[in-house]
Amino acid sequence: MNDINKNQAIKTDNENINIGIIGLGYIGSGVFKLIESQKLYIVNKTGKYIRIKRVADKDINERASKFEPSFRSEIIFSANPEDVINDPEIDIVVELIGGIEPAYNYVINSLKNGKYVVTANKDLIANKGESLFAAAAEHGVDILFEASVGGGIPIIGPMKSSLAANNISKIVGIVNGTTNYILTRMQKENLSFEEALKVAQDLGYAEKVNPAADIEGNDAACKLAILSSIAFNSRVVFNEVYREGIKKITLEDIKYANDLGYTIKLLAIGSDEGGSICARVHPALIPKDHILASISYANNAVYLYGNFVGEVMSYGQGAGDRPTASSVVGDIIQIARNLDRNNKKPVFGCTCFINKPVKQIDEMENKFYALMEVKDMPGVLAKIAAVFGNNNVSIESMIQKQTKESGSARIVFITHKVLNKNMFKSVKEILKLDVVNQVLNIIRVEDLQ
Ligand code: HSE
Repeated sequence: MNDINKNQAIKTDNENINIGIIGLGYIGSGVFKLIESQKLYIVNKTGKYIRIKRVADKDINERASKFEPSFRSEIIFSANPEDVINDPEIDIVVELIGGIEPAYNYVINSLKNGKYVVTANKDLIANKGESLFAAAAEHGVDILFEASVGGGIPIIGPMKSSLAANNISKIVGIVNGTTNYILTRMQKENLSFEEALKVAQDLGYAEKVNPAADIEGNDAACKLAILSSIAFNSRVVFNEVYREGIKKITLEDIKYANDLGYTIKLLAIGSDEGGSICARVHPALIPKDHILASISYANNAVYLYGNFVGEVMSYGQGAGDRPTASSVVGDIIQIARNLDRNNKKPVFGCTCFINKPVKQIDEMENKFYALMEVKDMPGVLAKIAAVFGNNNVSIESMIQKQTKESGSARIVFITHKVLNKNMFKSVKEILKLDVVNQVLNIIRVEDLQ
């Protein structure tokens, strides 16, 4: 197999896989470079020659001119994605423009034309997965999307293959590099949220104009919808994922969490609780000695529990052109290895074969951290404890910290696992107590046991 001349000795059509790329931006260029520079390695390893036949992009002239002529010689460039979708010789369409429209239109038409699709588009899969998988099944092809979650780290393919025999009960991800970067800088260097966000923007992790997709948890929610659908075999869409971002996390929270043995991370958590799915993205206190606490800066990790395999974690770079290209081309190779033009079949197919309800946040149970500023006088604790007690919120522990201002104190409560709606109701009532100046933050606690 280690015969470098194999590249020149492509014998049959089945050893030559034609791909068409739609979108030659940051990720598209990474995919283009990877395929061109690893061409011989891929042939030697798989026996298949991945030939980029067409590339379409709205700014094709400017973008294609950045590549060396040797890379470009046999490729047909165009500004029109229809040229890719309608070329009967194209086996695999690689969609790398992102967003729902017009990507959905290009992808569904590619599937209807009997082409396999590889995409890195989390919005598309998290919102339109069901109809795309139905179209793929109807036309005997498949859509692979490893790069849509966790950039270069393998998790979707493994869940659909090596881990497929397991019932997965819970999946916990750090799947947004930007927020993990911000929280890490806050933690390690005492930067405020605003300062850390500015650094993330200057480094290009967070968008300058509107960083909301990352900061408010929407990016992570798309990724969790995708992971939960696969883990629990039941479709979860973006809108069904509860989301809270990291804007309200302060250095004070980080310090108190640390004193209590925790670190704060933005988690994407999916779980199957007696046949109902809980899917939520929010900041959480996690034990400092849990492996997820060590995932720092822009790295990603996905951690899951399978009933036979036990605990599994995939870790690495969750974004960037090279890691993302690695996953995209991995999917292309997976399809290429299976490709038989005369007998097309899905590679994995849709794995959502059950229809489980998705719980609303009110009905989910969590342990909470609650930080309050209260008047430092007799009877304060009793009043707060009474509100918690009346709402069925049981307190696990409490610490009091004096503040510089005389007459006030900070109190941190850690609750037992309680219904979210009971906690929300308690907080509303606590805010009305004359002994409470402010409820500074409420953050969930995940012991991850
Ligand atoms: N914006 C994402 C992140 C990468 O910060 O992880 C692309 O999904």
